[in-house]
Amino acid sequence: MERKPDLGILKVEVVTHPADSELIGHLLSSFFNTLTTVVVDDPDQVRVCAFRPALEDGADILRRFQEKCDEMVRLGYLIQSPSVSLTLLDLEEAFWFPSFPPLLIGRTLAIVMDASTPTPPDRIRLTITGAGGFGTGHHPTTRLCLVLMEQSPIASKVILDVGTGSGILSIAAAKWGAATVVATDLDPCALSSARYHAAINQVGNAINFLQSDLAKAVSGSFDLIVSNLSAELVKDLAYQIKEKNLLTETGIWIGSGFTSRQWSEVHRLLTRLGYEVVTTETEDDWQAFQAVWAGNSLKRRKK
Ligand SMILES: C[S@@+](CC[C@H](N)C(=O)[O-])C[C@H]1O[C@@H](n2cnc3c(N)ncnc32)[C@H](O)[C@@H]1O
Repeated sequence: MERKPDLGILKVEVVTHPADSELIGHLLSSFFNTLTTVVVDDPDQVRVCAFRPALEDGADILRRFQEKCDEMVRLGYLIQSPSVSLTLLDLEEAFWFPSFPPLLIGRTLAIVMDASTPTPPDRIRLTITGAGGFGTGHHPTTRLCLVLMEQSPIASKVILDVGTGSGILSIAAAKWGAATVVATDLDPCALSSARYHAAINQVGNAINFLQSDLAKAVSGSFDLIVSNLSAELVKDLAYQIKEKNLLTETGIWIGSGFTSRQWSEVHRLLTRLGYEVVTTETEDDWQAFQAVWAGNSLKRRKK
């Protein structure tokens, strides 16, 4: 009997700026309906790759993908227009393609995409597969939140994560020993992704997932609130936290998702509403803050 030729694997490779890699990964996943792999070549350049069976030549999808990227550059979501190429691989070449390297964040975390990637033994391992939901740790705002969380008391504390995406911040909080974590998102797909990631990281029981517009459906008071959103949503949340008394007297609020240019406006509102910013962190023009109730930073230090 004549053997059918193997179907090839189409590799889509996007060379881009590291700060664009997460958004490019999401676009690639949605255009090519597949998971993506990020390969870091050097500090200024990464390759984001997607693989799919070569059922068609892919040129049309590629053209639409490139147009979408150009539009995102015009709107300011991407730093630069990426260079995109298509290659037909045989199955063996595709199998040996390197997987997502472990991503070391702060002093204690290592994020991997699959169970087979080894991590340093002294690091807490988080598995985030990139299936749905923003937040693989490759975007600076996620990293900034994790770095500020690492500097905050979390063990035995009650945590709220607003806009959980993949669940990454909640999962880190649970792994750092939080007593309970409440995680919200408006998007049901993000919530399923977060539930999935919590389960594969064995912290599903420590996190309560809630579909909510910011913290509207949340009640109670929290020792730590984390929120990687956008300038506008962080400002809306500032009102909600105050009106609903969501932050304990000595609690800490960590926020990110905006650029340094947008920060002065966010900062002005926080001060007007009675928050005091105690720390800020920046990476690649992205900004994050750690805030407390004004006048309570001293009380918190004495605690
Ligand atoms: C930038 S992602 C952050 C994901 C993750 N927490 C991280 O740090 O990587 C923002 C998340 O907020 C969610 N979101 C957007 N608007 C929201 C709203 N009004 N209420 C709740 N979640 C919202 C999005 O669906 C998305 O999952």
